Amino acid sequence: MTDSKRIVLSSDHAAIELRQAVSAHVASLGWEVEDIGPATPESTHYPKHGEAAARRVASGEFPLGIVLCGTGQGIMMAANKVKGIRCGVCSDTFSAKMIRAHNNANMLSIGARVVGEGLALEIVEAFLSTEFEGGRHGTRVEMISEIEG
Ligand code: RB5
Repeated sequence: MTDSKRIVLSSDHAAIELRQAVSAHVASLGWEVEDIGPATPESTHYPKHGEAAARRVASGEFPLGIVLCGTGQGIMMAANKVKGIRCGVCSDTFSAKMIRAHNNANMLSIGARVVGEGLALEIVEAFLSTEFEGGRHGTRVEMISEIEG
């Protein structure tokens, strides 16, 4: 498991309800959750919310983060623009485990218009309960970092 069970969450307007459900579930698993919103359902712009959560992870304040939007794609793209962030969109539990085990993902993205709440919570649990395997995968993750410069 990561050094500390602290996690930051954000979303756009399309995923507020799912984000709140994820937030409550992750807290029930013993994680300290910082949900940075948005709190109200007005239309907003996913890049700023993806960036906001990603910067909190990239700074080292949180070892992991979860972002959500309608598809999970746009907010993932924004998060991945922050140096040091490895964020993957997952719609299945196998991928959620593998982005931790092989890619050392430090952020998970979920599409609220793609998966239902029950599956989303299982995806989150798979992500949180899987360790990075290191070894040859470490070499490959370092190669990703080298691309960032
Ligand atoms: C908002 O309508 C939608 O475009 C957004 O939530 C997300 O799906 C973008 O990738």
